[in-house]
Amino acid sequence: MLSKSLTLLVTATAALARTPNGFTPSTNTDLIVEYRGFAPQNGVVVARDTTTSQPRIGTLTRLNGTSYAVMMIDLDIPTDSPPATNTLLHWLQTGLTPSSTATQLNTTSGAIRAFLLENGTNTAPVVAYFGPNPPARIPLSHRYTQILVDTSNITEEGTETLRTAAGTLRGFNAEQVLSDAGLEGKVVAGNFYNVTNAGPVTSPTATTGGGGTSPTGTGTGTGTGTGAGTGTGTGTGNAGPSSTQDVVTAGGVVMRPGGAVMGVVMVGMVMFAL
Ligand SMILES: *[C@@H]1O[C@H](CO)[C@@H](O)[C@H](O)[C@H]1NC(C)=O
Ligand SMILES: *[C@@H]1O[C@H](CO)[C@@H](O)[C@H](O)[C@H]1NC(C)=O
Ligand SMILES: *[C@@H]1O[C@H](CO)[C@@H](O)[C@H](O)[C@H]1NC(C)=O
Ligand SMILES: *[C@@H]1O[C@H](CO)[C@@H](O)[C@H](O)[C@H]1NC(C)=O
Ligand SMILES: *[C@@H]1O[C@H](CO)[C@@H](O)[C@H](O)[C@H]1NC(C)=O
Repeated sequence: MLSKSLTLLVTATAALARTPNGFTPSTNTDLIVEYRGFAPQNGVVVARDTTTSQPRIGTLTRLNGTSYAVMMIDLDIPTDSPPATNTLLHWLQTGLTPSSTATQLNTTSGAIRAFLLENGTNTAPVVAYFGPNPPARIPLSHRYTQILVDTSNITEEGTETLRTAAGTLRGFNAEQVLSDAGLEGKVVAGNFYNVTNAGPVTSPTATTGGGGTSPTGTGTGTGTGTGAGTGTGTGTGNAGPSSTQDVVTAGGVVMRPGGAVMGVVMVGMVMFAL
């Protein structure tokens, strides 16, 4: 049974797409995305730490296809030319099958009866889930959207297209990829939520290394960085509320405000962790 509050929410936003404004392919059907009792929907703000591990997903009505894929995309990753943004693929799992019976999910937004998507065939993910981690850069707020695609009739070429496309996480264009994979019009449900870095923004266009700074911080730290082709920089700073966020400078040096420079070997990891 839907809780009263969820029913009201659903009613109030019935005319809106479940995916963010401007995002295509859009859908009006709810995808339930549940993280151990939290089911962030309709763009609500959710704590980063709530979304660390892979969620369960489901639909409010029973699906009749034989195979589905879910993808999650960050629509707001920073670039070196703010406020321009890019996209990042966070999850792509194929081979999901819809349960024929509903499961009651007890969530902070009430009890939700959902037909869960199951991994009955233990299909390895194309891209394993990694959780939101918006850095202290512009924009601080990121929209993470999840879409469920009916892949019942996907061809071998289509599957290969998905795999190839997922090789490039940054700049992932869901609409183009689905079209290339012969999955145009096959999005059956969607959702999005918002994860926001508390800030403040740390040198969004830095060209030299430097320590993390925060006017309100209480800790201390030192950072030394080498910006590729831009010289070197040294800085000290106080570790503030953003001290758990890694920052990649324009020079490609990774810094943990309040900590030591981690070195370029971390860059790949950090880029994936937005
Ligand atoms: C499956 O569900 C879709 C969406 O509700 C519907 O359009 C379609 O007719 C159904 N197909 C079958 C075979 O029941
Ligand atoms: C959800 O709550 C109901 C009743 O409050 C309980 O019967 C059910 O076992 C709970 N489900 C889970 C998965 O905890
Ligand atoms: C499906 O199974 C594979 C293999 O066990 C696992 O790696 C993956 O995380 C599972 N995906 C989901 C969505 O449960
Ligand atoms: C996300 O939530 C924050 C905090 O409420 C808000 O300021 C921001 O506009 C939201 N971002 C988006 C992209 O909706
Ligand atoms: C898959 O193909 C069958 C048979 O052609 C068709 O009835 C069904 O609607 C198709 N399903 C999807 C999701 O394209």
